[in-house]
Amino acid sequence: MCGIFGIVTDQSQALGPILIEAARRLTYRGYDSVGAATISGSKIDLRKDVGRVDEVAAKYNLAEMTGSRGITQLRWATFGEPSQVNAQPHLDSDGDLVGAHNGNVVNNVELRQQFMAEGMTVRSHNDGESCVHATERYINQGYDFVEAIRKAHGDLQGDYAYVIGRIDDDRLYAIKKGSGLVVGIGEGFTCVSSDLPSILPLTRTILRLQDGEIVTLWAGRVELHSVKDGSLIQREPEVVTETMEAVQKGGYAHFMLKEMHEQPQVAREVLHMLAGSPEVGVVLDKIARARHVYLIGCGTSYHACLAGSVYFAQMAGIAAIPVVAPQFVSQYLPAVNEQDVGLFVSQSGETKDVLSALQAAEASGMTCYGLANVIGSTLTRATACWLPLCCGYEISVPATKTFTNQVVAFLYLAQRLAGGDGKQLEELPELMEQTLSLTAGPMQALAAEINGWNDLYSLGFGATYPMALEGALKLKEITYAHCEGMLSTEFKHGPLSAVTKGFPVLFAAGAQDVPQIVSGINEVTCRGGRAIVIGQDDPRLRANASDMILIPEADPLVSSLLAVIPLQLLAYHMSVGRGYDPDFPRNLSKTLTVD
Ligand code: F6R
Repeated sequence: MCGIFGIVTDQSQALGPILIEAARRLTYRGYDSVGAATISGSKIDLRKDVGRVDEVAAKYNLAEMTGSRGITQLRWATFGEPSQVNAQPHLDSDGDLVGAHNGNVVNNVELRQQFMAEGMTVRSHNDGESCVHATERYINQGYDFVEAIRKAHGDLQGDYAYVIGRIDDDRLYAIKKGSGLVVGIGEGFTCVSSDLPSILPLTRTILRLQDGEIVTLWAGRVELHSVKDGSLIQREPEVVTETMEAVQKGGYAHFMLKEMHEQPQVAREVLHMLAGSPEVGVVLDKIARARHVYLIGCGTSYHACLAGSVYFAQMAGIAAIPVVAPQFVSQYLPAVNEQDVGLFVSQSGETKDVLSALQAAEASGMTCYGLANVIGSTLTRATACWLPLCCGYEISVPATKTFTNQVVAFLYLAQRLAGGDGKQLEELPELMEQTLSLTAGPMQALAAEINGWNDLYSLGFGATYPMALEGALKLKEITYAHCEGMLSTEFKHGPLSAVTKGFPVLFAAGAQDVPQIVSGINEVTCRGGRAIVIGQDDPRLRANASDMILIPEADPLVSSLLAVIPLQLLAYHMSVGRGYDPDFPRNLSKTLTVD
């Protein structure tokens, strides 16, 4: 999740400190490289590199940069490795234009070929550079700047926003398509950014851009145009009154709630990234030819591994062994060799249990790959090849968006292993959005009704089994109640004896597993228990459940992922209802670097 910021001022001045501060305020989105450019008359000063904001600022003395227009960008690598040349902003062929983007241009590889064939100078592999060349292409054909951006929009596929400027001009230009973009209007300056936290220290008067809008920024005013027909858009600015903390939470009461609502967008981003990543082919090839495949993680990440093993088997006929990391060493290590592949899954990339397993696996000659959210973490540095989760920072201790993106990544890999191209998952983000809006109200109401219980069960079957385990973990983690996750058919083999009148048992019901689930539901309800069923609409479920929580119609494997969303919401509302802070549950840490 990159971040961009641009500013236009009424006179040439020291822009470096403003750009560094804006970059610092975008760091929460996650990044591996930092860059800044200032424009002064016919000169562009561009400085950028891999590293933290303060490191790059010190190394390149960003503070001394001056000009009347400036751009800064934090890059989170998707196209092209983290490197100085791939860091943003980027110049056009002649060095007259400079721009930076946020998001993913999914046809980047094809566009680079076209630009080179047209004689343009392409310096990096980064898709932000494609935004600059796509604009350059039409400026060179004589279009004015806004028209050139409109034309470029027709060439650039994907979700992105970019900001761009040229020498000997008094403006910056930016476009929003899928990624966030906000404009700030102040005394003697205007600015534009991916997000509010970098704007609010400068001004509280803002304009929120919508998809398909281009903004032209002068120091004293801004103008909006529609990409569709070029027409002028009138919009009154608004004044932001919330505190910075409230703004960082995006208007949500907690980071956890915000992060749950980010799930559809980050799913889009990881799907785009996977579709364009050359590493994916390497990983798939090795998995397809491996003797044994191990999916290794802890806690929530282990639940994603469990889901991955279901998808690999059901979709691609590949038996992959899901393992809790320490058990990999104690159980499987004597059995592994160099013909095996391990995929190590971790949000933080720093979990000691996972890193210890990785070290042991590498010593046995196994090929080790990573799936991690934090770029630059030990896991990403220690594996031969790794795939990013593209979630940005997850601040709340309970993992939510990183879990769903781990599962989305496994669904994608499984589809590719099965010979598909992953396009079947394109509707998934939209289905996640529908699930959030369909289940938010019912789960809040249900939380209030069952919050008196300190014992619960969360059951699933087949592809929903990992989701039931994950739902149970979320409940335990932030409500401090005991919630056991279990295969639904195992419930009758013992725990059924706990059921009394009103005892809550949650069922995540996959469309293909209804007959097995229905038996389990009835074993609970006929003893007076409350069977709360999450699933697609089905008369057999409706007739037997005490409560029916509907999720959208979808392919059964995809809908198994959707089932975890209402469970996350239930845990959140029960936690808040108990007066706890779900973002920072007692006794827990986001990164577990101990045995
Ligand atoms: C639960 C949770 C933990 C982590 C586990 C592994 O919400 O966050 O169970 O999943 O500590 O952490 P990572 O994924 O960073 O290796």
